[in-house]
Amino acid sequence: MLHLPTVIGHRGAAAYVLENTLDSFREARRRGAAWVEIDVKLTADGVPIVMHDESLKRTTGVDRLVAATPRAELPAVVPTFEEAIACFAAEGLGCNVEIKPCPGREAATATVAVQTLRRCWPASLPAPLLSSFKDGSLAAARDAAPEYDRALLLDEIRDDWRARAEAVGAVGINTNGKRLTAPRAVEIRQAGYALSVYTINDGAVARALVGMGVDCVITDAPDVVLAALG
Ligand code: G3P
Ligand code: MG
Repeated sequence: MLHLPTVIGHRGAAAYVLENTLDSFREARRRGAAWVEIDVKLTADGVPIVMHDESLKRTTGVDRLVAATPRAELPAVVPTFEEAIACFAAEGLGCNVEIKPCPGREAATATVAVQTLRRCWPASLPAPLLSSFKDGSLAAARDAAPEYDRALLLDEIRDDWRARAEAVGAVGINTNGKRLTAPRAVEIRQAGYALSVYTINDGAVARALVGMGVDCVITDAPDVVLAALG
């Protein structure tokens, strides 16, 4: 049974500090989050790093693709996955690890990420939750390390959601909270899946979603949502 906190800090505390950085994870903790969500992709030389976009431009100003940049040439502000895990150990943070592959690297990104988790994830922390929009990444994660819980990420819930979740052995659905309908929320919860929503920064909206049966709210502003949920 998957046990998630009610609130997870999105990319750390992205409302306050540059997303997917060690400072952002520490800020999420300071603002009350017990877990953070991060995006993991591979550098040109196959090192797992924490970065959302395919390009480094938006968050670091460096106009270069992640998939074409070796680890040694990354801007210092971009953490490796290992550095992020060390930060979580120091802060006592759990993590939803989103596998966010660059095109064509769906399986490799997942395989390297779970190998890193097996090597580095501290026993003192709750087991991480893996998630991805890519069925191929979740299947590769299941094949390489079935012990980690998986959630299927869906921007919109369509009728094939359950078949897709079953095909990759997912125990959770992580979906766009702005598009989730009450009947879908009931359907997912009654089917026994954990239900998380992203990215909800408004306290009243978070309350309404929890009222619909949502287990976990992923937010850029964990303090705001925690306060709203009481
Ligand atoms: O994992 C939840 C959320 O982060 C998914 O969308 O684009 O923000 O990674 P995105
Ligand atoms: Mg993400």
